[in-house]
Amino acid sequence: MAREFSTVGVVGLGTMGAGIVEVFARNGIDVVAVEISEPALERGRVTLTGSTDRAVAKGKLAPEDRDALLDRVHFAVGLDALHSVDLVIEAVPEHLDLKQRIFAELDRVCRPETILATNTSSLSVTEISVATTRPNQVIGIHFFNPAPVMKLVEVVRTVVTAPEVVADVEALCARLGKVDVTINDRAGFIANALLFGYLNHAVGMFESHYATREDIDAAMKLGCGLPMGPLALMDLIGLDTAYEILDTMYRRGGRDRRHAPVPLLKQMVTAGLLGRKSGRGFYTYERPGSPVVVPDEATPLATEAALADGARAIAKVGVVGSGTMATGIIEVFAKAGYEVISVTRGAEKSAKVCEAVKTSLNKGVVRGKLAEADRDAALGRISWSATLDHLADVDLVVEAVVEELSVKKALFASLDEICKPGVVLATTTSSLPVIDVAMATHRPADVVGLHFFNPAPIMPLVELVRTIRTSPETTATARAVCAALGKTGVVCGDRSGFIVNALLFPYLNDAVKMLEASYSTADDIDHAMKLGCGYPMGPFELLDVVGLDVSLAIQRELYLELREPGFAPAPLLEHLVTAGYLGRKTRRGFRDHSHR
Ligand SMILES: NC(=O)c1ccc[n+]([C@@H]2O[C@H](COP(=O)([O-])OP(=O)(O)OC[C@H]3O[C@@H](n4cnc5c(N)ncnc54)[C@H](O)[C@@H]3O)[C@@H](O)[C@H]2O)c1
Repeated sequence: MAREFSTVGVVGLGTMGAGIVEVFARNGIDVVAVEISEPALERGRVTLTGSTDRAVAKGKLAPEDRDALLDRVHFAVGLDALHSVDLVIEAVPEHLDLKQRIFAELDRVCRPETILATNTSSLSVTEISVATTRPNQVIGIHFFNPAPVMKLVEVVRTVVTAPEVVADVEALCARLGKVDVTINDRAGFIANALLFGYLNHAVGMFESHYATREDIDAAMKLGCGLPMGPLALMDLIGLDTAYEILDTMYRRGGRDRRHAPVPLLKQMVTAGLLGRKSGRGFYTYERPGSPVVVPDEATPLATEAALADGARAIAKVGVVGSGTMATGIIEVFAKAGYEVISVTRGAEKSAKVCEAVKTSLNKGVVRGKLAEADRDAALGRISWSATLDHLADVDLVVEAVVEELSVKKALFASLDEICKPGVVLATTTSSLPVIDVAMATHRPADVVGLHFFNPAPIMPLVELVRTIRTSPETTATARAVCAALGKTGVVCGDRSGFIVNALLFPYLNDAVKMLEASYSTADDIDHAMKLGCGYPMGPFELLDVVGLDVSLAIQRELYLELREPGFAPAPLLEHLVTAGYLGRKTRRGFRDHSHR
């Protein structure tokens, strides 16, 4: 029989604690909510009522249920109020000495059978537990932010946690409607170990002016379908908490440089820019605690006029190539009203591309997303050619040929000879340096990267890669073109992986390393990222879709360019590729897809 928890205590009512109180009270459990001082207690109360009022306003909670929920919460200053609870969850700031002091005190105040849990994200549960005389009743219960919304709970057992305590806590998670994964005590557990290297890397990109905060966040939202961008997420987590988590993970997790907090973080914390809770972090918020972002001095002027400032007029576009990307890009431009010349290496290839574009447009018609007349007009705007000479009078060329530097360089040298002056020359490369292609011409100022995502007609993101020789005029033109295509163009520097792949693939590689180390299973890791962080797919699901060979190649490029030891491809990934397990396309990758 699982233990009954009728009253629980929560210590610390900040970002996490207030949410945890709500989770318990919503599920009919009485809560003693404890803070260090009256003002802090009042802040916690305001957070809780604010959150429940919002749930009522959204129709997710009946007013009488809210009142019942709030009646279940007893607020108090000081730990003494916890003398008769069945379980305590501690959610005070991420400092080991503070947590140890609180656990020693809880050990004294609480009944001998009370379970003592910490919500720590990165500290050692074992080290916290030894501050008590009951380490076998100490456990980690790691909720995700916002606790009432996120389904995942990581249950962290130490080597001395009693098995029945683990079972009781797992049963409790089920009662709260949460999905739990039970794991051992390791820095960052599953989700944060995979998340924080990525978040810190994104802060580094921002700090080095590689891209703007808006563009970094838009890239990850639109390119990967994440619920929020990394910098907005840092603001939600709280920069002080994020700093402490990174610092602890760096020290506990093998001194991986990727976890050494980016210097800007420390400066922001010292300056009191803590994120949403203080009203300002990477973004500025309406007021402390508000999720509403307001414009500040760093907000870009997103008006059409500002976007088009200095841009050249583009009416006629050449698309070179006959693969998946070229086909999608032809469709995108033709639908947006541009006159398009498709250039392939022969009539046969042109006929195939033409067929593929027609099929895709017809699908749009069948699905009711495109009128027949618009389909016909789009097709009417495309002309088909097998010679580059027809690109003499276009205003923009988009190259989407095979991903080989020598081929692309030769093509750009030809375009340089054929195209009229002032043309913008764009490459869709996803891994080669744009500057190498630019220098194959005598007009590197006019060359830019336009990295479309697959499938181009659907994916809303384009990475706009500016080399050190790209002119502001060319960048402005590329921006204006993206806007006219109805895409979000994010501007970034010319580094391996641009924004999306540079942030995505090391995380996927880390997940493989975690699996390889037998810390957890592919299923639990996928669960953790989907339910704890709101990712649309877990890392192993995504790797199988992208292809393990493609993923390995990208990861190798990143490693070679940045020489970051943490980016070295996971040996397991290399072995699977060698074994021919490439993912869905070969019916086997991390999972067996043969039955589907
Ligand atoms: N922020 C996140 O996204 C997140 C997610 C999961 C877990 N966590 C973990 O949860 C814990 C709390 O983090 P947070 O972001 O909520 O921090 P926070 O700074 O928002 O809140 C901490 C609260 O603890 C209170 N406090 C400090 N000393 C206390 C004491 N002696 N007694 C009682 N209350 C005290 C503070 O007044 C404050 O309200 C940390 O261990 C953190 O790693 C955070």
